[in-house]
Amino acid sequence: MSKIEQFLKDKLQDRKNNLSIRNLSVNNFPFDFCSNDYLGFARSAELKKLIDDHITTILHYLNGAGGSRLLSGNTAYTEETEQLIADFHLAENGLIFNSGYDANVGLLSSVPQRGDTIITDELIHASIIDGCRLSHATRYKFDHNNINDLEDKLKLAKGNIFVVVESVYSMDGDIAPLIEISNLCEQYQANLIVDEAHATGIFGNNGQGLIHQLNLTEKVFARIVTFGKAMGVHGAIVLGSKSLRHYLINFARSFIYTTASPIHNIVAIRSAYVFLDKSDHQHIHQKIDLFRKELKKQSITALDSKSAIQGILFSSNEATKLAATILQSKGFDVRAILSPTVAVGKERLRICLHTFNTDDEIISLVKNLKELN
Ligand SMILES: Cc1ncc(COP(=O)(O)O)c(C=O)c1O
Repeated sequence: MSKIEQFLKDKLQDRKNNLSIRNLSVNNFPFDFCSNDYLGFARSAELKKLIDDHITTILHYLNGAGGSRLLSGNTAYTEETEQLIADFHLAENGLIFNSGYDANVGLLSSVPQRGDTIITDELIHASIIDGCRLSHATRYKFDHNNINDLEDKLKLAKGNIFVVVESVYSMDGDIAPLIEISNLCEQYQANLIVDEAHATGIFGNNGQGLIHQLNLTEKVFARIVTFGKAMGVHGAIVLGSKSLRHYLINFARSFIYTTASPIHNIVAIRSAYVFLDKSDHQHIHQKIDLFRKELKKQSITALDSKSAIQGILFSSNEATKLAATILQSKGFDVRAILSPTVAVGKERLRICLHTFNTDDEIISLVKNLKELN
């Protein structure tokens, strides 16, 4: 066996040994408590029809964009969509990226420069970490949601300072203390960047996100809104000033050096926003409240969360995998989140609630969780 094949095998064997090996699967358990399709948009026949109807109105329809946005891949429709989305979220401007991953990598790798400082929450998403790694700025982490630790790091910061948080954390489902963080940023003249991936569609009067709900739109330097979670489609937008948009068009490599989203996807994004406007914004919160109430009734401890993401800790890869397998055998699609995705000892079931989960399914899931104890 060649040296490189041996290396690959050894690394995979290490993962097998500590029960953290990842495999793709096509399992479809009947009761979805795992996808990020919180509002059921990805599976909505009504949204599909809206998209299909809308597509027929596009005059110069191309199956693929045929080039990057800076070459042949741009359309007036895309730019109009960006402005509509920016207006919806009360931002000056927006730039669509092909995914949330691309948006975070593009933003963080291009704006902070050598001599600047990026301060991130320790639980920040991998796409932000990767963006920071591509930047020459100095990076500090602060303890999760810990304002005092953030202030300690702000005191060390030099150059242009960027504080990056998620409004709703993707693995814990808890909410950042955004008002306090924003006040500190103001005090230390730091630029606040907020990833709203899991808040979009869930928080805000019409699903505009937490920054909108908390009236902080004027206080943030940039927001990242992704379309692959509650919006049920694909892609992301960076919201910010007109200059930020123009800067990213010039310097964000994950925007510049990639083929643009096909027009079909832009139509899907725009239609999802139309659909969001017509949705019942309380429905998901009724499901979240029911789940929390049932947990309490059964005396089950969960991570503190008001979002659609709920975590039940099992504290080892083995125990978490076993719990997931038992629940899956009963039809519940719940997934084990293992180390190293989360810290050792913090392994958990990540349960996502959806508008389409029936009350009976939620009550039954909690009963089955109780039986695991
Ligand atoms: C907080 C957060 N940011 C960004 C992303 C990446 O978004 P996308 O799936 O559109 O690449 C995710 C997705 O997992 C996420 O949870």
